[in-house]
Amino acid sequence: MRAAVVSSFGGPEAVEIVEVASPEPGARQVRIKVSAAGLNPVDAGVRAGGFGGAGKRLGLGWDVAGVVDAVGVASGWSVGDEVVALAYGTAKPLGTHADQVVVDAGAVAVAPRSVDAVHAASLPLNALTAAQALDGLGLEPGRSLLVTGAAGAVGGYAVQLAARLGVHVTALAREGDEELVRSLGADRFVSGGVAPVSVDAVLDAAILGEDALEWVRDGGAFMGVIPGANPVSVRGVRTGAVEVAADGARLSELVALVDEGALTTRVAETYALDEVVKAHARLAEGGLRGRLVLVP
Ligand SMILES: NC(=O)c1ccc[n+]([C@@H]2O[C@H](COP(=O)([O-])OP(=O)(O)OC[C@H]3O[C@@H](n4cnc5c(N)ncnc54)[C@H](OP(=O)(O)O)[C@@H]3O)[C@@H](O)[C@H]2O)c1
Repeated sequence: MRAAVVSSFGGPEAVEIVEVASPEPGARQVRIKVSAAGLNPVDAGVRAGGFGGAGKRLGLGWDVAGVVDAVGVASGWSVGDEVVALAYGTAKPLGTHADQVVVDAGAVAVAPRSVDAVHAASLPLNALTAAQALDGLGLEPGRSLLVTGAAGAVGGYAVQLAARLGVHVTALAREGDEELVRSLGADRFVSGGVAPVSVDAVLDAAILGEDALEWVRDGGAFMGVIPGANPVSVRGVRTGAVEVAADGARLSELVALVDEGALTTRVAETYALDEVVKAHARLAEGGLRGRLVLVP
């Protein structure tokens, strides 16, 4: 089968398609025939060496939608099941940017019925990250939250999930994104160099760091998206960063929200797997609204 890998770090052209043997699922694992796989900022980070692993061949891709085509013992899944999953890891030998991928059974959920595989493949990493970040903030209904990067993949899901919890969301995004983030459930929109006002918490998906921390009231909470790179706590603000965890049960809940129309999957463009270098180059240009998705 084909797989996108990086053997020496660099720009988009560092990504190669190689032929490898089909991976076999072990106990409590499944193999998924990939129908579609999201391309995320973390893949660009791995490609560029931001997560280490020099000297190893690293597989790319975390998000997958596809069909189970082999199962290990006690996987709980059957060949033919249509699924989505998160293939966690910055230093894995093979990822979801491939014809097939093996994942732990506990990372898998039944695919949404209401969207196609391309849209479903944009869900796992970023919806789980948004949900787990909100869990970490633990906001009660009626509390206020600033989401930075609210038009992005993590930020957009966070706006929808927080609004659904009854949290008042202020969305910080680019000038042209007001309509989008309001449609996702934001009460207030801010952009550019607006003077901070006080919110109970910030989810900092745009990685503004100390600038975002300024918005949090004394004793509030700050949740970043880069573990180990939080701004230093001030004024009693609790600071932390989400590190996404594979969780098939939680992913099932998010799939249900997609099927209810409560969570919106957004796809910018699709690329054939063989065009993976072009897709990385497009991601590097920035300014995307919606995910890039690879189709084998
Ligand atoms: N810790 C974890 O487990 C985890 C999991 C998933 C993602 N992440 C990280 O989370 C971050 C966000 O990921 P993503 O997939 O949501 O990225 P994304 O889709 O590119 O979204 C980022 C958004 O922030 C916007 N933005 C950046 N700077 C801004 C500013 N100063 N003002 C207003 N908007 C601004 C971007 O706009 P432009 O496109 O116009 O710049 C974009 O809309 C990435 O660094 C990713 O690696 C971490």
